[in-house]
Amino acid sequence: MSKKTNIICVANQKGGVAKTTTVVNLAAAFSSLGKSVLVIDSDYQGNATDILGINPVDAEKKNLARAILKEIPCENVYLKSPVASNIDVIAGTRELTEAVVQMTGQVHQHLLLKPILSEYVYDNYDIVIIDTHPTLDCLYMSAMTASHYYLMPVFPDPESAKGLVDMVHSAEKIRKYLNPLLFNLGAIICRYDKSFATHPKFVEKIRELAKAANFPVCETLIPNSASIPAASVASQPVVTWKPNSIISNAYCALAGELLPSLKGKRMGRVPVPNMEQVYKITDEVEASVEF
Ligand SMILES: Nc1ncnc2c1ncn2[C@@H]1O[C@H](COP(=O)(O)OP(=O)(O)OP(=O)(O)O)[C@@H](O)[C@H]1O
Ligand SMILES: [Mg+2]
Repeated sequence: MSKKTNIICVANQKGGVAKTTTVVNLAAAFSSLGKSVLVIDSDYQGNATDILGINPVDAEKKNLARAILKEIPCENVYLKSPVASNIDVIAGTRELTEAVVQMTGQVHQHLLLKPILSEYVYDNYDIVIIDTHPTLDCLYMSAMTASHYYLMPVFPDPESAKGLVDMVHSAEKIRKYLNPLLFNLGAIICRYDKSFATHPKFVEKIRELAKAANFPVCETLIPNSASIPAASVASQPVVTWKPNSIISNAYCALAGELLPSLKGKRMGRVPVPNMEQVYKITDEVEASVEF
């Protein structure tokens, strides 16, 4: 293992909070900084696979579900993304639902990605980014168990703050019982719009509460942008579809902010959130942000 490969899981139990958008745009942003990136799409919806331009016929032959069921290592299952020369993808497909059914209850049900993350991965990629779906099943657990880091996208509203609380809670259980070195890289505030009076208030409150609860919030705010869905329709991350736009620059700034924290597999103790403070977040955000 010659490289310090960083495995990052992008997760939030709440659906539709920009997990996939974060995965594909961070992949493109890291790639533009010269990093070689592998995206593992562990969502049966396959949205990251589509946005990274993977041909569905190719994805039918080589995909994550098959790799899990047959214990196929990365080198025999990855596909090249046409979006950038240094982004590879292990495709997410509908077959993942069947794979979850078959694997649930197996002794290695929380280690489903282990055979795939072979030495090839550590020799060839700087960064592995895993997209997840919003269910606490064995696939999600396996993604968090295989990761060195996790990131939590969140929208600036109280409902999303509740999702964040649930996420910190479940991630803490995974750190405690399955993956003691799992490191929280932070919450990312997405779809931020400063013209909404509530958004700056939300950001201020969530930063204050997260500090008290001992978990990080990324400095970079990802703005609301109509270019995000437009880029998805064009099967591209916005970072490659509209480079140098405000939204694209925000993702590049986020990648630049995260890079110094990425040190491969960390040793020693990781920061632990103060769960009592974490549980206060939803109520306090709701109380502080009037709609
Ligand atoms: N910054 C943004 N500005 C505008 N729209 C955005 C932004 N980020 C995400 N979206 C839109 O929000 C929706 C949800 O995003 P996305 O699919 O990334 O969420 P998800 O968390 O992966 O959802 P799921 O839980 O279904 O996997 C999409 O329609 C996406 O285009
Ligand atoms: Mg998604």
